[in-house]
Amino acid sequence: MPNTVILGAQWGDESKGKTTDILAEKADIVARYQGGDNAGHTIIIGQEEFILHLIPSGILRPNTVNVIGNGVVINLETFFVEIDHLRQRGVEVGENLKISSRAHLIMPYHKIMESWDDLGSGLKIGTTSRGIGPTYSDKMNRHAGIRVADLLEFDLFRKKLDFNLEAKDYALSQIGGGIDKHALLEQYYAYSQRLAPHVIDTPEFLNRAMKDGKQILFEGAQGTMLDIDFGTYPYVTSSNTTIGAVCTGLGVGPRAIDEILGVSKAYVTRVGGGPFPTAMPPDLDEHVRQVGKEYGATTRRPRRCGWLDLVALRYATLINGLTCLALTKIDVLDDLDEIYVCVAYQRHGETLTTFPSSLSVLEECEPVYERMSGWKQSLVEVRRYEDLPTNAKNYIAYISEFLDVPIPMISVGPKRDQIVMLNGHVLS
Ligand code: GDP
Ligand code: IMO
Ligand code: MG
Repeated sequence: MPNTVILGAQWGDESKGKTTDILAEKADIVARYQGGDNAGHTIIIGQEEFILHLIPSGILRPNTVNVIGNGVVINLETFFVEIDHLRQRGVEVGENLKISSRAHLIMPYHKIMESWDDLGSGLKIGTTSRGIGPTYSDKMNRHAGIRVADLLEFDLFRKKLDFNLEAKDYALSQIGGGIDKHALLEQYYAYSQRLAPHVIDTPEFLNRAMKDGKQILFEGAQGTMLDIDFGTYPYVTSSNTTIGAVCTGLGVGPRAIDEILGVSKAYVTRVGGGPFPTAMPPDLDEHVRQVGKEYGATTRRPRRCGWLDLVALRYATLINGLTCLALTKIDVLDDLDEIYVCVAYQRHGETLTTFPSSLSVLEECEPVYERMSGWKQSLVEVRRYEDLPTNAKNYIAYISEFLDVPIPMISVGPKRDQIVMLNGHVLS
């Protein structure tokens, strides 16, 4: 099993959780490197559904160590709730969960600051309201950020908290009725005690593990088109969701990475604001949302659905240097007579084959579609590539050739065993 990065190649919710869980069977370590509890990664085993927000998707595999890197922002309140829920359901969470001392904390005031920023700017990003943006802003600002290591030096934490409450006083008094500092200090002291046994120096741990021949999966959150640099800014999240974040979010060098697996649905979805060039017409949008159960795993908001956008996916392939692709939720298209794929954009009579950086240009783009025949049969029982119907194989081959990337994993349903692995590929 090569050290493999699993990252979203679209606007998030591509099934990174399921993909990670499957590959984690053969991995020693699963490490998250960016994002926070804005993520919602679903894993279905038999009749049981688990939605993980902060804990890496290797937690359901015994013998896998799960690491939360310095690039992740941690809300301790939701973190401990997630741990308690997992334990109540019989999942072991203890020594198998390690947290970077350098990770930054999402504090209760960050959520309030997020509402404040939204009010002030009038920009409808449609965030998950988890305080992600304000936390990463404070990290970059340097004066305000609070790290796990600071929490463990409680006097330092107290000083940093004082600074933040003072600096943010006006906004906090305007929204949400302010913050009870003494209650917060008590709560965070208890958290520090509970957190301490999990805290490690992640670069030391991961680099030592690799020296010892352990295999690592690097689990991304969100997706390439939500990247702070490469996504549809400002309708993005506040972290780098693309390949570089693996190194900066964990403290490993680029040579630690053997394979870069992009995860893409056989169509696209987007939750929150921002342009979405291949949006389906309302009846089809509704059909795909119902069949694919396209409602946010974190916020339950309906996801917008669209045809597969190969202009955007090619862009994601280039930025991340994808070495392979997992194509998921292909079964959701089972009923369709025709399947469209966007191969270029048209704007003012001009054809564009690259993804524009300007939002106003993107908003004027009309997709150019290639139309393909559907397979009109259920794929949910298929387990071998040879058993896929010809039209499904044609669809997969078309995508693979367009992107010049192999597709060794095809997901045909939400459950762990609903997967087709291409024989002979390194990930099989
Ligand atoms: P993630 O954020 O990338 O981990 O993806 P989410 O968990 O937010 O969204 C993926 C959704 O699709 C979840 O509800 C999964 O249970 C479901 N799912 C995953 N793979 C498949 C598949 O191949 N077919 C179908 N029908 N559903 C799937
Ligand atoms: P997973 O890991 C889909 C979207 C939000 C919003 C934008 C900014 O499950 O794929 P934020 O709260 O991050 O500041 O919101 O990003 N978003 C996601 N969309 N899947 C996610 O995570 C997302 N995390 C954030 O809807 O548009
Ligand atoms: Mg999700």
